[in-house]
Amino acid sequence: MSSTSSKNTIVVTGGCGYVGSHTVLSLLQSGYKVIVLDNLSNAPTPEALVRVQRILGRKNVTIPFYNIDITDREGLYEIFSKHTHEISAVIHCAGLKAVGESGRRPLDYYQVNIGGTVNLLQIMEEFDIRRLVFSSSATVYGEPVKVPIPETSATHEAMSPYGRTKSFLEHVVQDLCVASEVKHADYLKAQLAKGEEATKDFRWNAILLRYFNPVGAHPSGLMGEDPQGVPNNLMPFLAQVAVGQRDKLVLFGNDYPTKDGTCIRDYLHVLDCADGHVSALTKIERNEAAGTYECKAYNLGGGTGFSVLDMIKAFSKAVGRDLPYEIADRRAGDVPILEADCTLANTELSWKAEKTLDQMCEDLWRWQSQNPKGYNNV
Ligand code: WQD
Repeated sequence: MSSTSSKNTIVVTGGCGYVGSHTVLSLLQSGYKVIVLDNLSNAPTPEALVRVQRILGRKNVTIPFYNIDITDREGLYEIFSKHTHEISAVIHCAGLKAVGESGRRPLDYYQVNIGGTVNLLQIMEEFDIRRLVFSSSATVYGEPVKVPIPETSATHEAMSPYGRTKSFLEHVVQDLCVASEVKHADYLKAQLAKGEEATKDFRWNAILLRYFNPVGAHPSGLMGEDPQGVPNNLMPFLAQVAVGQRDKLVLFGNDYPTKDGTCIRDYLHVLDCADGHVSALTKIERNEAAGTYECKAYNLGGGTGFSVLDMIKAFSKAVGRDLPYEIADRRAGDVPILEADCTLANTELSWKAEKTLDQMCEDLWRWQSQNPKGYNNV
């Protein structure tokens, strides 16, 4: 499979969402075709795909979009049946992703994130599509023992039902890959016993991308993060303060054991994160060209930790004025420091976050100021 081979269509689940839509753009810019599945629960409309086409400036680029929930097994079957001869891989971003909300709706999170993903994997297996890039998260590390965090760190310490779905789904994918090796070996043995050629390969190639904190927006100002309701995350909330949609940022805790008392996170530009998915597909292509099949996790981070106060200062600089905030108590589940060791992605995926904190903030401000109401920009 390559971006120039005949089967070069990538299914992107959650492709109307923040990371998903920027990944769709990166894929198209890299020569892939895409099909987008999204139930529009996180994204108000597929408008992000219209913006992708505007950025590409190519009217002829079509982005087949299906409004579907990954828990709809029949619907998934129909889509994969219709496109089976063109689909070469799946990038799976769809899922519920609000840490706090997951504590209030654990069953919904387990049903959608785990049940929906199992549905998707079963359908992929049924149509002999065994290349997967899975949207995992740094949240699987819980409170890490070692910072910067290498992929070998324990991942059974997730601090929320959301984080536990990601951690468990990594095991689901790993178990599937291991089982597929056994299934393939049995198949080879059976073919040999029958004196027949092996014409199929049951093995999977899967890459688990542990996102740290994707922020920012496309430099054109046409695409960005458009959370529904009150943003859970720091930067979209701060951006809404800057455009006057929110009065002030509530800063959750300044008594952490860090340089300035506020939590440190590893922010990376959403375009760098999106490019990480293309690098993961390239790695899968290289694997299969070499007859290698594996399931491996990689951190996607910016490589530098910034505190909440650092982010407020950097974004205020981009906006051109100080943004109001108020110190409050800590938020349950927050850990003091999450920073990525991205050595593995740097060496094995030939991927490295390139964009600076100023670029993250300038691009975020351009998006938010040009689209105060996100994709519902009226
Ligand atoms: C960052 C810092 C907050 C909001 C995120 C996603 C989670 C997962 C991992 C994908 C923390 C502080 C925030 C606010 C604040 N992503 N903050 N006031 O916590 O690292 O988790 O990345 O899988 O889905 O939530 O990022 O942006 O929520 O918080 O003070 O209004 O900003 O306490 O210290 P986090 P975040």
